[in-house]
Amino acid sequence: MEIKIQSLESIHEAAREFIAAMGDNTVFALYGKMGAGKTTFVKALCEELGVEDVISSPTFAIVNEYRSDETGELIYHFDFYRIKKLSEVYDMGYEDYFYSGALCFIEWPELVEELLPGDAVKVTIEELEDGSRVIKL
Ligand SMILES: Nc1ncnc2c1ncn2[C@@H]1O[C@H](COP(=O)(O)OP(=O)(O)OP(=O)(O)O)[C@@H](O)[C@H]1O
Ligand SMILES: [Mg+2]
Repeated sequence: MEIKIQSLESIHEAAREFIAAMGDNTVFALYGKMGAGKTTFVKALCEELGVEDVISSPTFAIVNEYRSDETGELIYHFDFYRIKKLSEVYDMGYEDYFYSGALCFIEWPELVEELLPGDAVKVTIEELEDGSRVIKL
C-alpha cells in the first residue's frame, strides 16, 4: 500500500493510516535516503500511538525507548546509521528488542539486514521533487 504525505501538515493523518495498516506486525524496517523523512515519520507515529515525552532523533544512541501513555506499551526506535561493525549490534542485545513483541521502528535497516527478523515489514520513504513524501509498505 501507498501513503502520500503532501506536506508536514498532513503527517499525523498519514501516521494514523500507517498504524491502521500495521496489523499484528511489530518490526518495521524504514528504508529511505538521508533526509527522506524517516525520523520525522517515526516521531509522528509515536505521537499518534500516545507517546507524550519529547521524541528526539536517535542520533547518538542506537536505540531510543518510548512508552505510550495511552497503552503503556514500549516502542523502540533504532537508527543504525552510525554502526561500524555488526558486533556493536550484537553487543546492544538487538534480539531482546526485535523479538520482544514491542513495536520496533528501524532507520537504516540495510546496515543490519541479516539480523532483521524474517517477518519484518519493509517500508520505503521517498521524497518527490515537490517535497512531498511517498511511503510504501
Ligand atoms: N513529510 C514531510 N514533509 C515535509 N518535510 C519533511 C517531511 N518529513 C521530513 N521532512 C523534513 O526533512 C528533513 C529531514 O527529515 P528526517 O530527519 O526525518 O529524515 P531522515 O530520513 O530521518 O534522515 P536521516 O537518514 O539523516 O536520519 C527535516 O528537516 C524534516 O522536517
Ligand atoms: Mg533519521
